[in-house]
Amino acid sequence: MPRVAVIGAGTMGHGIAELFALAGYEVNLVDISQDILNKALRNIEDSLKKVKERGRLKEDVATVLSRIRPVVGDVCSAVVGVELMVEAVVEDIEVKKRVFAEADRCAPPEAILATNTSSLPITEIAEAVKPERRTKVVGMHFFNPPVLMPLVEVIKGQYTSDETVKRVVDYVKKLGKEPVVVNRDVPGFIVNRILARVNEAACWLVARGLSTPEVIDAVAIYKVGLPMGVFLLMDFVGLDVVCFVAEAMKKRGFKSHPCPLILEKCQQKKYGVKSGEGFYKYPAPGKFQWP
Ligand code: NAI
Repeated sequence: MPRVAVIGAGTMGHGIAELFALAGYEVNLVDISQDILNKALRNIEDSLKKVKERGRLKEDVATVLSRIRPVVGDVCSAVVGVELMVEAVVEDIEVKKRVFAEADRCAPPEAILATNTSSLPITEIAEAVKPERRTKVVGMHFFNPPVLMPLVEVIKGQYTSDETVKRVVDYVKKLGKEPVVVNRDVPGFIVNRILARVNEAACWLVARGLSTPEVIDAVAIYKVGLPMGVFLLMDFVGLDVVCFVAEAMKKRGFKSHPCPLILEKCQQKKYGVKSGEGFYKYPAPGKFQWP
């Protein structure tokens, strides 16, 4: 069986590991502590049980789960013999560069090193590896939650070869997802550039007293036909993530007109579902229920 490594077992990493295991890959899943990995494995098991209940899993939950090998801390040992690494650690360029340098040292020369970054430059991350590997560094941007969201952006950095893009497009298809190739390493790629404008426009309508999150979300769902309201989606993604990505895109030259309401929520640590309150209130931190 082909083996891949997923580095980071948080919100995105555990979902990405689950996807690869569902597609039959052996997965080395790395994080910095056993507690985080135990929580990730529990989340994966719960999610697999739901997939099974919906009749979309032919194997046993335990069989799929047994393909995921938790590894504490050691990126080097986790990438030995892999054909692909997907990095999903915190959105911090220095942490990501350290992970890539370590993976470069230990992964087979033909292995692809992909990053799930939402906002950081793929080209700069690639500069953490030896020049001869840079053609194999690429963006592989999943959406939250990876098991449910159909789209994956495949982002070409300045050094990424067409062959690498083609191989990653093939992986995405094997996971049962829809690849969209982003040919230039622009801030926010495609989806986050569009979302940034939508979030900003919706937020300014509320900030100027012209509407409310409830009305805008109802219009978004029932008139525009979006699957989720604009404010509910921000709460679901996490307003800390929304603020961080917007700031990172701005630093890279994306022209924006930041809305004070989003910044206020971040300052008040009202991050959305994860903290129990954002634009809406939730029963408890981490408990999602349609408001
Ligand atoms: P998270 O904070 O939930 O998880 C990050 C994990 O990385 C943590 O468990 C942390 O312990 C681990 N970690 C930190 N340093 C590490 C290291 N040196 N080695 C191994 N593990 C390490 O973050 P989240 O939300 O999963 O984001 C991960 C990446 O995915 C970020 O680049 C983010 O921009 C991107 N992303 C996030 C989305 C979201 O909706 N949260 C959506 C799409 C992409």
